[in-house]
Amino acid sequence: MSGTDFDAVIVGAGAAGLHCAAMAGQLGARVLLLDHAAKVAEKIRISGGGRCNFTNRDATPANFLSENPHFCRSALARYTPADFLALVDRHRIPWHEKHKGQLFCDRSAEDIIAMLLAECAAGGVERRQPCTVKAVRRAGESFELDTDSGTVRAARLVVATGGLSIPKIGASDFGLRLATQFGHRVVPTRPGLVPLTFDSADWAPFVPLAGVSLEVGIEAGRGKARGRFVEDLLFTHRGLSGPAVLQASNYWREGEPLRLDLAQGHDLADELLAAKQGSRRQLGTELAERLPRRLAEAWLAARPGWAARPLAEMKDAELRELAGRVQAWEITPDGSEGYRKAEVMLGGVDTRELNQQTLESRLAPGLHFIGEVVDVTGWLGGYNFQWAWASAAACARGLVAGLQGSGSGI
Ligand code: FDA
Repeated sequence: MSGTDFDAVIVGAGAAGLHCAAMAGQLGARVLLLDHAAKVAEKIRISGGGRCNFTNRDATPANFLSENPHFCRSALARYTPADFLALVDRHRIPWHEKHKGQLFCDRSAEDIIAMLLAECAAGGVERRQPCTVKAVRRAGESFELDTDSGTVRAARLVVATGGLSIPKIGASDFGLRLATQFGHRVVPTRPGLVPLTFDSADWAPFVPLAGVSLEVGIEAGRGKARGRFVEDLLFTHRGLSGPAVLQASNYWREGEPLRLDLAQGHDLADELLAAKQGSRRQLGTELAERLPRRLAEAWLAARPGWAARPLAEMKDAELRELAGRVQAWEITPDGSEGYRKAEVMLGGVDTRELNQQTLESRLAPGLHFIGEVVDVTGWLGGYNFQWAWASAAACARGLVAGLQGSGSGI
């Protein structure tokens, strides 16, 4: 190594930055890891309700959104959930599978942070935080960073500053601005995995349902950009939340409706028509056996007198129409709770200008972008961390191979 203080400087000590630093360090690179926050990995700390849903056993490229959907294939194939799980097991971290392949720590997300810090120490990574980067510039083939702990020079610069969600714990647009500085296109960003809200007048009839939760089928988006999920829905004072809506929010665009099946797993029309035969039961009682009682009541409140009508007296067409509305409820959100509540940012650095093997810029050799700052966003359920680990691993291997190829002596 000549003329540089480090082989690689990594900005952002979150999931992707820590993993990349540890791997590159252990492969022989001299790595400096910087973060402007006093504590590293705040998002890991608060993730999964404090237990960190650190991967998903079933992760495939189909679980990710991007303007360039094939980009993530290579990194995901070369560093799999099983690879990360092997690391977790090597550190004897107890974990469990919740459902749908989601793996969580038994104890606390702190276990994952401690593991990543131990891996960084094993790789001889130098860490500085809090440390702010004031300016970045090219210095020949290297990069020079002005930081509040002095100027550092490195052959490679890795941007791992994450997305814009939860600004109060350190999110910034540093990575997006740096990408633009080096001529990269940024795919427009918006909050993802976020509760959706409704105009207060439209939502007034549903406010009394706050707290009601049920399993639903939910669909959002159009054409290839359409997502359908079966998950739990939660009514709130301002709108809809719960895993169903968080998943759908990734596919939802302003002005478009959500389509919900509130009697998921039932064929409500068939069931009501069959139940009608010889029944003296009331429609309200019958519906409340298939939906949460408060929801059934609210649904029938819009049709005065219906709740108490004996099923046998209902016309078939009325029952079919009612069932159709319950199982294909279309409702158009007014907006979302925004980055304050979003788990992720959609959009980011355009992957068409990055090398899929190494996450290196095609425009500025030696510059890499990894993790959430890149236009690859996963579903809810451990997929976003898997992208962080996989993109970090691809970058670490790629940058070390590049350094070896350049005869830098590592
Ligand atoms: P990450 O955000 O982890 O790290 C970025 C780092 O860069 C931070 O340490 C930040 O301080 C630093 N930084 C930012 N700007 C900087 C600057 N200007 N200078 C220096 N440093 C800077 N995913 C999942 O798979 N399972 C889960 O259970 C959850 N749960 C979850 C809960 C909540 C509440 C949120 C908000 C998010 C999740 N996620 C999740 C998403 C997951 O946390 C996220 O996708 C990853 O942390 C992204 O990893 P990155 O390393 O890219 O960014």
